[in-house]
Amino acid sequence: MNQIHFNKDWAFTFENALDEFSTFGLDKYSEASGAAARFYEYSNWEKIDLPHDFALSLKRSRLANTNAGAYPNSHYHKFNAENRTNLEEISHIGWYRKEFVADPAWEGKRVFIEFEGIYRDAIVFVNGVYLDRHTCGYTTFALELTDHLVFGEINSVAVRVDSDQAEGWWYEGGGIYRNVNLYVGEDVYFAYHGITYTTSLDGTVGVAAILVNDTEILQDRRVCAILRDADGNPAAEGVCDVTAEPFSKACAKFSLQVSNPRLWRVDDPYLYTLELSAGTERAALRVGIRTAAFDADRGFFLNGEPLKIRGACMHQDFGGVGIALTKNLTAYRIRRLKEMGVNAYRSAHHAPSPDVLDLCDELGMLVMSETRAFGTSPESIRQLTELIESDRTHPCVVIRALGNEEFTVQNDAWGARLMRKMTRIAKALDPTRHVTFGGNNGENYNGANGAAEVRGVNYIQIGEDGWFDAYHREHPEQPIIGTEEASYVLSRGGAVNDLANGLIDASGNVTMPWGSTPKGWVKFMETRPFFSGTFMWTGFDYRGEANPFYYTNAASSFGTIDLCGMEKPPFYYYRAWWTDEPTLKLAPHWNHTAGDVVSVSVFTNCEEISLYLNGRLLASRKVERFDAPLFEVPFEAGVLSVEGVRNGEILRDELVTSARASALRCVPVLHAETEDDIAVYEIDAYDENGRFCPTADEYAVLSITGGKIVGVGNGDPACFEEERYPRCESYRAIPSFAVEGDTRPFNVPERAPNVSRRHSDWLNVLPCRTGYEDDFRVVAQIVEDDITPLQKVTYTAKLHSVEDYEFVEFERFGNTAEVYLNGEKLGDNKRRWGHHCKNYNRPYRFYCHFKDGENVLTVVSEHRDSDTPGMSGYVRLGKAEETPWQVRLHYGRARVFVKTASADDVVLRAEIKD
Ligand code: GAL
Repeated sequence: MNQIHFNKDWAFTFENALDEFSTFGLDKYSEASGAAARFYEYSNWEKIDLPHDFALSLKRSRLANTNAGAYPNSHYHKFNAENRTNLEEISHIGWYRKEFVADPAWEGKRVFIEFEGIYRDAIVFVNGVYLDRHTCGYTTFALELTDHLVFGEINSVAVRVDSDQAEGWWYEGGGIYRNVNLYVGEDVYFAYHGITYTTSLDGTVGVAAILVNDTEILQDRRVCAILRDADGNPAAEGVCDVTAEPFSKACAKFSLQVSNPRLWRVDDPYLYTLELSAGTERAALRVGIRTAAFDADRGFFLNGEPLKIRGACMHQDFGGVGIALTKNLTAYRIRRLKEMGVNAYRSAHHAPSPDVLDLCDELGMLVMSETRAFGTSPESIRQLTELIESDRTHPCVVIRALGNEEFTVQNDAWGARLMRKMTRIAKALDPTRHVTFGGNNGENYNGANGAAEVRGVNYIQIGEDGWFDAYHREHPEQPIIGTEEASYVLSRGGAVNDLANGLIDASGNVTMPWGSTPKGWVKFMETRPFFSGTFMWTGFDYRGEANPFYYTNAASSFGTIDLCGMEKPPFYYYRAWWTDEPTLKLAPHWNHTAGDVVSVSVFTNCEEISLYLNGRLLASRKVERFDAPLFEVPFEAGVLSVEGVRNGEILRDELVTSARASALRCVPVLHAETEDDIAVYEIDAYDENGRFCPTADEYAVLSITGGKIVGVGNGDPACFEEERYPRCESYRAIPSFAVEGDTRPFNVPERAPNVSRRHSDWLNVLPCRTGYEDDFRVVAQIVEDDITPLQKVTYTAKLHSVEDYEFVEFERFGNTAEVYLNGEKLGDNKRRWGHHCKNYNRPYRFYCHFKDGENVLTVVSEHRDSDTPGMSGYVRLGKAEETPWQVRLHYGRARVFVKTASADDVVLRAEIKD
């Protein structure tokens, strides 16, 4: 099937901003009503491209669920007595709409729509047809559209998304936050997610491709397979003839043989491409040739070679964008993990996005994928099936977690029973991947974990001392992996631990009761060959789950990298011991008060280090493998430096006492290669002598040309400030129209001032609807009259100096209205409502281009005297208004997320706010 990207030109609104009660009207085919209708006036919805996270456009509140990031998109609150957030005003339902022309060439073909992820509870309508409901917020799903399309005409998709119920215990966002695609295939087509393959080290690639015959006649097909290397040269070929009965399926099988296969490895993630054809039907898939195995004594093997899994658990949100990550941001996060030596990504605790899987294939990152809902209910099985069907062709996926910390059942026979059945289902869908269960049940021998193929351990500290080794001795057949470890909490640059006041240092040495320091867990796993490896909790900070500051913070402090991608000092611990990069890092900073005794960390793979204060030698010491030296140093302003020797090479690092911040620098961190990408810039504070200011917390006021800021962040988990500034608009009223054809009197209202309104001022945003501010009205008097003949009325306004406006908006029209700008028709008020909806009262907004000089706006209306007049209510021009962006610095830095068509054109400026 051909893939068509379907991310552009959507519109969005919150349901509580609609002026009608949201009835779907499910009684007649294609007659759903309101926002679900086939035709609907929604010109005043926000225009967006996907991916989109609606939660982030709400204003954070300390009364909202801090453990879900303090965004008011859900009533759920894990730690409130009634499990309900105190906030009255919650916006949890969003509507998305898109209109598109169904290509006439699609007639006779099969058309599907794929949603890579919607958080959550999505109801999908096509042309006013209730298509399906998909509740899981994490799995990818596809629905067939073919029967409901009108070819060659405008078709509509409407999706209602409800984020109120929580699936997890972290920030989950809301909306269509991953890509949407169309797939168009022949009437005999390769099934969606219907191609699978196995590989072996001798280069055998076994392919099974399901062909669907959606016709009433028997179909014979010759299915051809070509496996191409990365340069496009054929590496193996095969054919398979199949016969598919009417309205049924056939499976084409191949055993392709690649000579001298180049294997997929984490340091050389080589990918072939499999191309399949059956007549004019085509499919393509990337293939990595590799094997993966777990051994109870010797741990994990990739391609028959031992490989310690040095992993990171990851939730999916990121600074500035929430859960709506573009592919380049996802790639950036994976690259950051690789920089510190991480070789495995646990998609905790949910199905990973297709982008994560594609990029881990490309960049050489192993994946533990995970299903969200443990159990064997139809919903759990659906989620597990969707997960496996989406991820089983990715060489990066080497193991799956079927559950995580299921307290009610994990330790008993009930949990074991469920685990066994889930394992059976998972293995039927993909016999090649191992399965595990993230159990925080210490030395417990039974339950879900006892039944798991690979024992998964969340936290070596849970259980009696020595249980881990005893467990292994007593279960000599069961491989073992650390599904979660670390859970230390740390800031990016702090030197003090004063938890009562929310302060935490940057060493990684403060852990939750179940957690371990970097040194603690790394040493533990690296020195046990039978331990396959483990995943730190977490690679990056994420919103919500603000342990140990449940109520005061909005984001977690677990990340070794902060929410915006800035590393915390232990990043260098892993880099030192997991990579060959010469590493010497002194942390956190040297801006203290006289008399302080400061704890400083050194993360290094040097053999020996020496610490100096203002040129005086303070200490020298050897560094053992996996060591993380700590020094207590009385403060004295100046330069604290460290020198180390590694393989004869001298490395240095230093911390310098700085004065107050007096200048900001904007440093590009991530370029945008395409217009779909988001670029990232870092704002760093320096003092008048050009020294970095590690404790600066001033506000940076931002301005930009050549791009658009879409979000800001500073990595401070205690920050409740807006990460995404809301859309602002300003308006100019049209005070009068010349009227032709109406005999009735026309009130000429007084001139109203321009009104600028922030759409997300908390008290205003939810109840307010664009277009419902009566800032200015042109009111035609209603004359009660009997039926009179239709009369044609023309309203004309001559507008000057309006070239920078983007739309014209009418509060209300009467019977019929056609709107023209400079003689060109902009649109009309024809509404083909289903019979559930008779709402004519929504404002009409027409986006248009005004020219320089005079513009003539004309409305031609036909109505009877007894009708609502042809035009009533306000008429205004409007445009998006730039709000001054600002972001507070945290430990001297902040980050800015920018959308641009060309990275070279972006000029970002930041100034310290007075
Ligand atoms: C684990 C849990 C994770 C996260 C973590 C925090 O028990 O599986 O989702 O909550 O603790 O330390």
